[in-house]
Amino acid sequence: MTDLNPQAKQMADESMVRNLDAQARAIWPQEIPLLCRYALPAVPRILDAGCGTGEAASRLAELFPRAHVLGVDIVDHHLELARGRYASLAPRLTFEHQSIFELKATDRSFDLTVCRHVLHSIPHADHVIAELVRVTRRQGYVHLIPEDYGMLHFQRAPLDPWDFWHQVPASFGERTGTDLFIGRNVFGILAAMKLEEIKVDYIVVDTVRVPRETFAAILEAWRDGYAESIGELTPISRESAVAYFNQMIANIRDPHGYAAWMVPVVSARVP
Ligand SMILES: C[S@@+](CC[C@H](N)C(=O)[O-])C[C@H]1O[C@@H](n2cnc3c(N)ncnc32)[C@H](O)[C@@H]1O
Repeated sequence: MTDLNPQAKQMADESMVRNLDAQARAIWPQEIPLLCRYALPAVPRILDAGCGTGEAASRLAELFPRAHVLGVDIVDHHLELARGRYASLAPRLTFEHQSIFELKATDRSFDLTVCRHVLHSIPHADHVIAELVRVTRRQGYVHLIPEDYGMLHFQRAPLDPWDFWHQVPASFGERTGTDLFIGRNVFGILAAMKLEEIKVDYIVVDTVRVPRETFAAILEAWRDGYAESIGELTPISRESAVAYFNQMIANIRDPHGYAAWMVPVVSARVP
């Protein structure tokens, strides 16, 4: 049977807590206008599926001050952190242990269903998207950030980062039964499900829009959390992975350097 959580170790690592913090700081300012487009009721019900440490769930509760936000995840340590950090937003903001493969909610429960940075890390992403759509009400919205590791661009130096991004996600995905290029595939999944108003927008995490230290912190967390499994699952050794990451981090920190991560945001309305 396919492992439904092949990145369990990385998701529970302390580097992931750092990563989610840096990713939210990098991405959220550009995500707010996308979220504000949705026609939501006065007291919206929002689900954050695979909420991690609650970075987005808490920001959603602040952005929509009357909303009821439920964050679900399967890593209890993340949920405990989230409950502790955002206690002041309870009971409007709650966190529960639930798998996004089998949500407890009845059909059509939420006005907005959010799933950020999860779909690339699990197999059967189409099943999970169907589950997210099931719990979203008619005319409600799904708001997805499906990562795509073909959308990262760094300058060449002694190493060519293209070689890394060309080899690692393909091999890692093959070995874990996941699609690390899912960003470009979600449009078709939603279209096949006959969802309406499908939009693909991009958040640009680059060295012009995002503080260099914030962008560098994401790459540092990836290096610390993933170099070992890259060594085990792909043709690139652990040492080589660390060297690639260190060069990309130096590229970001170089005041004259430029690097960009295109983050797709795919949304749609449930008919
Ligand atoms: C990269 S984190 C993203 C966290 C959060 N969405 C954010 O944007 O900060 C991915 C999260 O998905 C969770 N996850 C993975 N498989 C899951 C499942 N089957 N059900 C619920 N959560 C899951 C992981 O535990 C992890 O916390």
